[in-house]
Amino acid sequence: MTKIRILRAADASTFRNLRLEALRESPTSFASSYEDEARLTPGEFVRRLARTDESWVLGAFDPTNTIVGCVGWYRYRGRKISHKSHIWGMYVIPAERGKGIGRALVNEALTRARAQAGMTQIDLLVAAGNTAAASLYTSFGFERVAVYPRALCVVPTLNKRRPRASGDPECIGSPGFPPARE
Ligand SMILES: CC(C)(COP(=O)(O)OP(=O)(O)OC[C@H]1O[C@@H](n2cnc3c(N)ncnc32)[C@H](O)[C@@H]1OP(=O)(O)O)[C@@H](O)C(=O)NCCC(=O)NCCS
Repeated sequence: MTKIRILRAADASTFRNLRLEALRESPTSFASSYEDEARLTPGEFVRRLARTDESWVLGAFDPTNTIVGCVGWYRYRGRKISHKSHIWGMYVIPAERGKGIGRALVNEALTRARAQAGMTQIDLLVAAGNTAAASLYTSFGFERVAVYPRALCVVPTLNKRRPRASGDPECIGSPGFPPARE
């Protein structure tokens, strides 16, 4: 059975490994890049796991206590936007997908987020074409409110594990605006 709990400073190294695996394995699913986060110090990952009522990362663990997934959450700061919060970094390792772990992580994140006083809005970003994630969130009632054109630009030469034939960056988003007229 999968156990879900908030990650602590002692989990920083485990979280770093999973997070870097996520960014390398699924580069088009995240705004952050493997190359940028691989440069972060171990202390930065400890800092990220400094749990408060306004920010935490959940980890999903298999029966052998191996981490198999994670999801992050934070509340926006500022009196006019602190009714809102954001889900980020949702990831389940490929070998454990399709077994309900992603659903369990989202469910736990939403339960905890909704328990915060004054929390009325939760948002997140999904890359166009990520049907697995989009369908997961839709099943919890999330609705698409906008499509950002050319939101991500994934340069394939930096993704050493999955090089693409084309030298063009992979841009994810809507088709975008027509070129400006001269
Ligand atoms: C998206 C992701 C987290 C789903 O995790 P998971 O553990 O496989 O998901 P679950 O098994 O809990 O499935 C929950 C729901 O997700 C959707 N889903 C999962 N995999 C799917 C797939 N391959 N195609 C379509 N829908 C899918 C379904 O709605 C499913 O519900 P159902 O089983 O009742 O049909 C996982 O595929 C992943 O880590 N992907 C790479 C990283 C990523 O895209 N992160 C999201 C960033 S926004």
